[in-house]
Amino acid sequence: MTVNVVILAAGKGTRMNSERPKVLHQLGGKPMLEHVVNTAVSLPDTKIHVVIGHAAESVRAHFAGQDSIDWVLQEQQLGTGHAVAQAMPHLGSTKESIVLVLCGDVPLISRASLEDLICNAGPDTLSLLTLNAPDPKGLGRIIRDRQGKVTAIVEEKDANDDQRRISEINSGIMALPAARLTDWLQQLGNDNRQGEYYLTDIIAMAVAAGCHIYTRTIDDDYEVQGVNDKVQLSRLERHYQRRIAEQLMKEGVTMADPGRIDVRGNLTCGRDVVMDVNVIFEGQVSLGDNVHIGPNVTIKDATLGNDTVILANTVIESATIADQCTVGPFARLRPGTLLSDGVKVGNFVEIKNSTLGRGSKANHFAYIGDADLGESVNVGAGTIFCNYDGVNKHRCHIGNNVFIGSNSTLVAPVNISAGAFVAAGSTINADVPENDLAIGRGKQRNISGWKRPTRKQ
Ligand code: UD1
Ligand code: CA
Repeated sequence: MTVNVVILAAGKGTRMNSERPKVLHQLGGKPMLEHVVNTAVSLPDTKIHVVIGHAAESVRAHFAGQDSIDWVLQEQQLGTGHAVAQAMPHLGSTKESIVLVLCGDVPLISRASLEDLICNAGPDTLSLLTLNAPDPKGLGRIIRDRQGKVTAIVEEKDANDDQRRISEINSGIMALPAARLTDWLQQLGNDNRQGEYYLTDIIAMAVAAGCHIYTRTIDDDYEVQGVNDKVQLSRLERHYQRRIAEQLMKEGVTMADPGRIDVRGNLTCGRDVVMDVNVIFEGQVSLGDNVHIGPNVTIKDATLGNDTVILANTVIESATIADQCTVGPFARLRPGTLLSDGVKVGNFVEIKNSTLGRGSKANHFAYIGDADLGESVNVGAGTIFCNYDGVNKHRCHIGNNVFIGSNSTLVAPVNISAGAFVAAGSTINADVPENDLAIGRGKQRNISGWKRPTRKQ
């Protein structure tokens, strides 16, 4: 049985006070809508329809290349019932199918809850996800009869005082029999306080038609929490981060403070990983066994091998670091950095688009850009790879066991062959043969009998 998932995402999100459409605001580094789509994709046998309207093109653009999404345009946002009605012609044969309605601004909905709603819905049964909310303000109330059977949903703006006292609310997420839905949607009116076609009005219609309403009531309120403003978004973000941190700790990661790491993307960790405070992971990050991360470190789209140590205040982006490396404190690894086993990168070293062979070291103040360094190379303090001539970039090649003395400038393109030694303070702009000593600096003169300047009277 195919499940047609209809994700409502056409609204403007006025209370976000932003130019960006609401469903593209990020939670854990991903737009809210992407969380919902990913959860929907994880369900078996689904077709996914996303209803867009406000800033439709920028929403679509974010999912470019994801062919599994069927986009439904709702030109005017006339209400949630109207939104679902726009998707109905996209469904194909609806005979057996279930329509699962999700909201693009309820990002943390779990797969387990959705599976429960789906398997309890049927030709004569609607499933609703409800929540007992301590503060139900602004939300639709679940109306039950004396026997406890659901009879309707009433929006707060249309509710009387008794109904407003009900704390069981509609999450907006429901599973409905597709075959009957078209009919109900056609009967919807907009004679209510908001002048909208409410999807919630079909509950009373279904009850009148003899349908059963199944409800699943949720304990974890974050799961069904919608985001209407930045305050709610930040609360959900903290909850989400806490959940990831707890999951990582259960998997064996040691954290100095689970409240002070953020994962904005996907992080995988080997065994016995240790993290200090204020560590941010972005994009796809993979850490090997026994990796230690110091405080105030940002790591984006990177792979770190076993036993590697990242010291405080280091920033890493699009880099691959092998086993037993030490990086930092205060190091910056930019895109295209590749460190082989046992490399050491110390304070105030910046590396970009460069490869460092096994056991090479750049321990203090240096810029290594567009270079290939062999094994056991020593880059002295203050070394600059001059990769840019003002117009083009050029590469440097440094052989195994090369020693580059402090405060050298290597003017690319230049090759320094294995075993060569560059004297401190050299400017190197010609190739150096194997095992040679290269000295490229003015010769020192000592002037004896020289008098220091004296102060004018
Ligand atoms: C809706 C429910 C309410 C529930 C609440 C939970 C209705 C009438 N009310 O209220 O019972 O408690 O969600 O959060 O369904 N949307 C469209 N097109 C439209 C209108 C809305 O795509 O024409 C989308 C919005 O982008 C949003 C979702 O539908 O993702 C919910 O709409 P919203 O206006 O936020 O509904 P609520 O008033 O919160
Ligand atoms: Ca809402």
